[in-house]
Amino acid sequence: MTIPRSSLPRRAPRRTAAAAVVAVAVAGLLAASPASSAEDAGDRAGAGAQAAPDIPLAGVKAHLTQFQSIANANGGNRAHGRTGYKASIDYVRGKLDAAGFVTTLQQFTYSGTTGYNLIADWPGGDANQVVMAGAHLDSVSSGAGINDNGSGSAAVLETALAVSRAQLQPAKHLRFAWWGAEELGLVGSKHYVNTLPTTERAKIAGYINLDMVGSPNPGYFVYDDDPAIEKAFKDWYAGIGVPTEIETEGDGRSDHASFKNAGIPVGGLFTGASRVKTAAQATKWGGTAGQAFDRCYHSSCDTTSNINDTALDRNSDALAHAIWTLGTGATPEPGDVYENTADVAIPDNGAAVTSTVAVSGRTGNAPAALRVGVDVKHTWRGDLVVDLLAPDGTAYRLKNSSSSDSADNVVATYTVDASSETANGSWRLRVQDVAAQDTGYIDSWKLTF
Ligand code: TRP
Ligand code: ZN
Ligand code: CA
Repeated sequence: MTIPRSSLPRRAPRRTAAAAVVAVAVAGLLAASPASSAEDAGDRAGAGAQAAPDIPLAGVKAHLTQFQSIANANGGNRAHGRTGYKASIDYVRGKLDAAGFVTTLQQFTYSGTTGYNLIADWPGGDANQVVMAGAHLDSVSSGAGINDNGSGSAAVLETALAVSRAQLQPAKHLRFAWWGAEELGLVGSKHYVNTLPTTERAKIAGYINLDMVGSPNPGYFVYDDDPAIEKAFKDWYAGIGVPTEIETEGDGRSDHASFKNAGIPVGGLFTGASRVKTAAQATKWGGTAGQAFDRCYHSSCDTTSNINDTALDRNSDALAHAIWTLGTGATPEPGDVYENTADVAIPDNGAAVTSTVAVSGRTGNAPAALRVGVDVKHTWRGDLVVDLLAPDGTAYRLKNSSSSDSADNVVATYTVDASSETANGSWRLRVQDVAAQDTGYIDSWKLTF
């Protein structure tokens, strides 16, 4: 039986509007970040991620010195099929073996000569979630290839050695790689991906590529691919106040393309090749406008003199940040809870109020069965209209008003088909009190992905 509201005696509100306002202020102070309070809740860039160490520039540069010596002793280059390439592999492998990595040399044949990929696995972590970083180790035959790509090779190597020094125990499995014959058409990385069993491919959560990260007239370019990898790099650069741009000098021109073509999420860093730095870029990054980022690209002058130390240092540290963030942070998964426990007063018969839950680090859309847990305290819940607002503003009605529903509080879990909505962004609970007298407040609400 429905009892019309007008015939019921009004009860004294349990909580006054003033008390609710006080509660807002207190919760606001305690909940400095309105994000998540649940244990496994994520702000994924990753929840619980450990801070990366500083990668010593001197360590990175010491590897470049070795690559230069190797080239000098082997006809001036470290190209596929030449002795300087295998010597480079042996140098990198020796460092990794001594640091406790499990290294694998993968051979392939290209244009009649043997090529090598070096794979280094850091023992431990979830084998079903592999975070990978790599760089091509071969040079062109015209020079030592110190920026292209001793720089990326050395940054990845020194980051791997930092993992060992930290004796890191990441949540995910870490794998580092040095590719052969990139300069001949991404040959080594294609071979790796194409010979990897489908089940192993599916375990690679992301591949990070470093190719040319110490250009002498550097730009700071971040690949615009996997959002989580991109975010890790952009966050690091934002932290030092250096602007970045999206990499556009040839998407698909390095080893990440081999992974991307197999459907594996990719990201990476780049400081520019033969493209010319604009005046606007020189204004924000310094260096010389009207000159190539790397005037020695694919030339004999790509030596240890062809390196900008600041760029090399920054990109090495940025890589470490990404590896630590993605490797040690929680993985977003079904069941993650995002919650806001700060109270929000709902004005009596007044304007709608909202409470925000920030979701980040996820990929793709929200689930078809997104659960919305609502805890609104109110002395006459029939007054309330409740909506979930997706990040783009789309409203999902959770509850209509009903003059006959005299019960207290809205404590309920609603299921919303949010599969057309991007998961990441600011989700809001919108509550409006549409009838006079009884009042209340949003106590907390949460999204379960
Ligand atoms: N090794 C690459 C090449 O020789 C260098 C390069 C050019 C690059 N454009 C790029 C690397 C864009 C990464 C992203 O083609
Ligand atoms: Zn290269
Ligand atoms: Ca009311």
